[in-house]
Amino acid sequence: MLQITRPRTVRTVVELRDTVRDWRRAGDLVALTPTMGGLHEGHLSLVRAARRRAKRVVASIFVNPTQFGKNEDLAAYPRDEVRDAEMLANAGCDLIYVPDTSEMYPEGFVTTISVDGVTTEMCGAHRPGHFDGVTTVVCKLLNQAQPDYAIFGEKDWQQLISIRRMVRDLDMPIRIASSPTVRESDGLAMSSRNRYLAADQRRIAAKLNKALFASADHIAHGAPIDRVLSACSKALVAAGFDGIDYLDARDARALDPVDHFDPQIESRLFIAARLGKTRLIDNVPIERTGMTE
Ligand code: PAJ
Repeated sequence: MLQITRPRTVRTVVELRDTVRDWRRAGDLVALTPTMGGLHEGHLSLVRAARRRAKRVVASIFVNPTQFGKNEDLAAYPRDEVRDAEMLANAGCDLIYVPDTSEMYPEGFVTTISVDGVTTEMCGAHRPGHFDGVTTVVCKLLNQAQPDYAIFGEKDWQQLISIRRMVRDLDMPIRIASSPTVRESDGLAMSSRNRYLAADQRRIAAKLNKALFASADHIAHGAPIDRVLSACSKALVAAGFDGIDYLDARDARALDPVDHFDPQIESRLFIAARLGKTRLIDNVPIERTGMTE
């Protein structure tokens, strides 16, 4: 029978650093997967990706208040440490780091890490201060754990690009790896926020990824980007979405808008759409999928 060793849970920087230091002294590579809990298969895929790169895997769980806007879902955000720990144990995590807010932001904390450029549009424009909150807490987590690798999901592509930029700009000696978006069987990108959706909203939500993949395929076959995107937005609103915050075709690395398809340039479609109070995001590569062949 497969023996699962329970990962230890630590709550302080000192305990985290002691453990990681011992591993590194023993010559083991260490990978960190930061999360806000409310775990699902998407998060676990990061833990598995971390395992493939490093002998030791640390997962952090911290619902970071500074990346939530005033009217956002900080209070409602799912918190279930016992369930999360069980899932992390089964996925092969070695250590769980669960700092409380005063460990992360002690009295007197006043520093912000702000990445310009790639954070200003899309989610950055619709969630003021969000990416400052993300890059500050990720910078702290990376400094606290001092891993060899940190793994982030492609579902939050703009976040991934912003973190890569920060690590490069600040000469942080950590390799940032990414892992593909894990989807439900109907294609909806897994998210801790999907549990907010009522059954009728959940059915509508599944149309988001389908519309996105179909639009990417049309664009890759030469259809004009502006026409495809405006038809896609209209179709999603007609299908029951309450609003589209943005739907953009962009260069995958610099996140600059692209106005025509160029197979030489890696580009993606990005969307944020609202269903009631829930905001869903997704992104897909602009490439020929064969859907319209
Ligand atoms: P959270 O939303 O919990 O996501 C943690 C990590 O899981 C992120 O790297 C995210 O991109 C990845 N992830 C989420 N859903 C995924 C899916 N369906 N497939 C693959 N990966 C997925 O992102 C955050 O937390 C926070 O902003 C954080 C980076 C922890 C900083 O607070």
